[in-house]
Amino acid sequence: MSLKNMANSVSSKRGTFTNSYPVIVNSIEPNRYIFEVNKLEGNYHNFPPQNLNLKELNNRLENLIRKSGDQDGQRTRAKCFRTRWDLHTTDWSVQLIGDNAISMAKKNPLAGRTSPDGAPEKIEYGIRECWGLIYEQGQETKSHSHWPSTWAFVYNVRACSKCSPLILPSNGIHPNTTLYPTEGMLTIFPAWLNHEVPSQPCSHERIIIAGNLDVVWSRF
Ligand SMILES: [Fe+2]
Ligand SMILES: [Zn+2]
Repeated sequence: MSLKNMANSVSSKRGTFTNSYPVIVNSIEPNRYIFEVNKLEGNYHNFPPQNLNLKELNNRLENLIRKSGDQDGQRTRAKCFRTRWDLHTTDWSVQLIGDNAISMAKKNPLAGRTSPDGAPEKIEYGIRECWGLIYEQGQETKSHSHWPSTWAFVYNVRACSKCSPLILPSNGIHPNTTLYPTEGMLTIFPAWLNHEVPSQPCSHERIIIAGNLDVVWSRF
């Protein structure tokens, strides 16, 4: 690293990166956000779908995931149906989910970052991977993280409030963060945080889009 780059400064914002888990939840609407929550505590299962086009979007996503097929054979931590890792390259609807996640990440920087000349530095993100998952009754994902990506995102395509939640287990300081799904709910969290999905209790499928955002650096 050059001396010039070392001059960059990063300062933590209170209440975000260093002293709580920044888990951010939105109810998706194409190109617009309705909810924005920076808090961890509480359940987020009360977010209703707010958009008339949500049904159409979710139908499209569900069909795409099914059409893509199960590429995984349950070799990863996800013990369920999983599509290819670049699903966002196959259709605008998946790209839209990733783009909304990028907008959320841009609106919620975890620290202020300054260029050597003192100007605020904008952080650009790209969709590194994106895939679809279908959980059937009894299927689960063991604890894992998406390190070294920056943000992980999860979008709920098909789910009810009794489906398995997404759980970010306690680190001994913070309690478990438990996010019950609602269709249309988009969540981002730091990709290095462990998370898990317990066994799906419902007899219907739980369908999600998941992915990773990485920083796109303009220089090294
Ligand atoms: Fe994951
Ligand atoms: Zn359910």
